[in-house]
Amino acid sequence: MATMASDPMQEWTPNSWQSRPITHQPGYPDPDALDEATTALAQLPPLVTSWEVESLKSQLAEAARGERFLLQGGDCAEQFNDCTPEALTNKLKILLQMSLVLVHGTRRRVIRVGRFAGQYAKPRSSMTEERDGMTLPSYFGDNVNAAAFDAASRHPNPQRLINGYERAALTLNFIRSLVGGGFADLHHPEFWNLGFVEHSPRASEYQAMVHRIGESVRFMESLTGISAGDLSRVDFYTSHEGLILPYEAAQTRRVPRRDGWYNLSTHYPWIGMRTANIDHAHIEFFRGIRNPLGVKIGPSIEPGALKSFVSELLDALHPDDEPGRLTIIHRYGAQQVADHLPALIDAVRATGKTVLFICDPMHGNTVKTEAGIKTRRFEDILGELEQSIDIHAANDSILGGVHFELTGDNVTECTGGARGLSDKDLGDSYQSLVDPRLNYEQSLEMAILVAQKIGGGTND
Ligand code: PEP
Ligand code: CO
Repeated sequence: MATMASDPMQEWTPNSWQSRPITHQPGYPDPDALDEATTALAQLPPLVTSWEVESLKSQLAEAARGERFLLQGGDCAEQFNDCTPEALTNKLKILLQMSLVLVHGTRRRVIRVGRFAGQYAKPRSSMTEERDGMTLPSYFGDNVNAAAFDAASRHPNPQRLINGYERAALTLNFIRSLVGGGFADLHHPEFWNLGFVEHSPRASEYQAMVHRIGESVRFMESLTGISAGDLSRVDFYTSHEGLILPYEAAQTRRVPRRDGWYNLSTHYPWIGMRTANIDHAHIEFFRGIRNPLGVKIGPSIEPGALKSFVSELLDALHPDDEPGRLTIIHRYGAQQVADHLPALIDAVRATGKTVLFICDPMHGNTVKTEAGIKTRRFEDILGELEQSIDIHAANDSILGGVHFELTGDNVTECTGGARGLSDKDLGDSYQSLVDPRLNYEQSLEMAILVAQKIGGGTND
């Protein structure tokens, strides 16, 4: 069935989404203030360049063919206050170490993409939140309002879009400097924090793997006489959920000597599960930009509706089957992935087009403890990933990457892992304002287990 959004003849402009139904937007009370902020944003320099965006797209095309593996990760919601050297260094460090583990296990080059430098806006299940008889707008992320529960903090303020852009620029500037030098030592497992390993029943397997990584780094260095950090240029790309369309549209522009429009607020935006409605504003906006795109798909699409949904989605976002253009991020949860994923793979196959499939094992596995704290269990996250790897293999398809909510800090938000964090440990250092993240040790352990699974290791 043809839809408005999938009609390639329909004229697209950076603002054509405005005539479509839209959800999960803050109700900005002052439209003039919003206009002023987006006009200012449109005049500021871009955060990324079109050639970086194109280079990422071609790497994603390789991942879709099974020649590379994508590691995407970072906070559920970045906070302006977390734009600190320590937090950013730790985030980069864990992503780099996980990627080295994955290179080793998958024998594929790894594309590193942060959920950072712009992951400041969140869809919420309700527009408002009530506490003790008082109702205020929900917290929509630092790009929109502040988390404290008082009227002034929760007021959606468009000036925050500029603050968010500036924080993203500071974040990117520091990441680019770190990547440009000074990070080389992290290629050596001698510098990793591996204290957790001894707490795992799989300690000897972990030690053996880390030892092998160290050996191959040293071997490469002695062979070439070049330090590992210099040898493999470390690229990091940025991504965030493209939620607040006035922000995304303001940073969308044409560039010299290329066709089309680029959203230069990030390399690789994704459309969240809640806003992936075919005839709605988000699909309309994202169909018109040249960036590679992710789309989250979860159990909210009934199996019976999946085939027509996927066909319309790909008509709208992936009409030319351009290599690297579209990533489907499936997030079904460990309990449901076996029921849904084969049908998703079939639905994509029926279009005759190629997408990159990656798994987000976080968002389908959120549970509440008895005390009402949101958490995720390490074994559910791992379970969804392991099942996804097997289901893709059994269906002649490829799981080309993983998408995590994680931090390089020592938080206590998810349970399980080698140290056996339990529900009662969650109070020790729970910092996320939205979803629970894997901490440094849990992330590294997860990477080891995924690498072993893909590499045909011994963790069965
Ligand atoms: C998220 O990635 O933080 C998120 C809200 O995910 P989803 O759209 O998959 O629910
Ligand atoms: Co989240």
